[in-house]
Amino acid sequence: MDTQGKTITCQAAIAWGKNSISIEEVQVEPPKTGEVRIKLISSGICGTDDHVLKGELPMKFPLVPGHEGAGIVESIGNGVSSVKPGDKVLTLIIPQCGECSFCLHPKGNFCDKQDVLPCSGLMLDGTSRFSCKGEKIYHSFRVSTFTEYTVVPEIAVAKIDAASPMDKVCLISCGVPTGYGAAVRSAKVTPGSTCVVYGLGGVGSAIVMGCKASGASRIIGVDINEEKFPRARALGVTDCLNPRALQKPVQEVVMEMTGIGVDFAFEAIGHIETMVSAWNSCNNSYGVCVIIGVASPDSKLCLEAIKIITGKTLKGVCLGDYKTRDCIPQIVSDYLQNKINIDPLVTHQLPFKQLHKALELYHAGKTIRCVLLF
Ligand SMILES: NC(=O)c1ccc[n+]([C@@H]2O[C@H](COP(=O)([O-])OP(=O)(O)OC[C@H]3O[C@@H](n4cnc5c(N)ncnc54)[C@H](O)[C@@H]3O)[C@@H](O)[C@H]2O)c1
Ligand SMILES: [Zn+2]
Ligand SMILES: [Zn+2]
Repeated sequence: MDTQGKTITCQAAIAWGKNSISIEEVQVEPPKTGEVRIKLISSGICGTDDHVLKGELPMKFPLVPGHEGAGIVESIGNGVSSVKPGDKVLTLIIPQCGECSFCLHPKGNFCDKQDVLPCSGLMLDGTSRFSCKGEKIYHSFRVSTFTEYTVVPEIAVAKIDAASPMDKVCLISCGVPTGYGAAVRSAKVTPGSTCVVYGLGGVGSAIVMGCKASGASRIIGVDINEEKFPRARALGVTDCLNPRALQKPVQEVVMEMTGIGVDFAFEAIGHIETMVSAWNSCNNSYGVCVIIGVASPDSKLCLEAIKIITGKTLKGVCLGDYKTRDCIPQIVSDYLQNKINIDPLVTHQLPFKQLHKALELYHAGKTIRCVLLF
């Protein structure tokens, strides 16, 4: 059936409010100028989606959640030139418009056209493409992926290799570049260095991969869920710490283990307490602490101000510091050429209609990434 130019009725998850999600029949309008309609093939469940579903980020409900998607272009709006129907693509939570001051700066990647901070829940023209029983439904970050079809701005679409295995590469839409890039691009982990990674979920696991690929000699993994440890060790973690099983604060243990503190510390959980622990795990002179976790917007990070003059660095990073459309297709190619292996991160795959089971597995801490298949 030719769907181009027509509204599509399909199944999508709708978060009606905090902790209230159901699969519904929705209408997805055709893409407008500069937009692309995508038939999703797979979507990961990222920690950021969990923050959204718990109401920890200021988003407008009801919304179609998800952002870590891989799919095939169904149709394109006027003016779209970088993709065509049939192309394999990834959705990008951080777009690359190529025109704003961040995109034009050689280092910038937090494109002005993103819809994360702040979050309107609407497309660039201020309207939504989703409705359910006549009610307007908001988008999440303009890249909703817990749906059979979505509409995304062209600047938030990355065309990928036609040979990409679509049941896995959705991880390269967010989790993999976020973690891997935090290590190799943002921290610039050096050979022989010591690292600590707080949080061994999907993003933390990709950080470990980046530290290992950079030649780190010691990688300490911290998580309250010891079930994460065997997989983390397989990826390169040398020492595992469960803060809840320790007699003293975890950063003190990291200090004792390393003598002076680590060279590179990463926080991939989204709690201010673990951000402070990561900061205090770094050595005072040239230690680098990179915050990846998304804290709730009203929380404040409180640090001992005097420590900053000793020379250590605190920085945050979004999507691994990659200019997304330029760089993410290359990561997919690197995966196809066995230069990076994302397979160990895909621990579960479930049909989309089993979304609730997938969320249960996530909340029970059983998954690194559970991929929803459409
Ligand atoms: N900066 C970015 O560009 C970016 C991109 C993607 C995700 N994120 C953020 O990164 C964070 C991690 O995402 P994820 O997909 O890996 O989530 P995840 O749920 O897969 O992993 C989080 C891990 O943290 C562990 N954890 C929870 N509380 C802990 C504590 N107090 N101490 C130690 N470990 C604890 C959990 O057991 C889990 O293994 C989230 O905050 C997410 O929003 C940021
Ligand atoms: Zn831009
Ligand atoms: Zn994500």
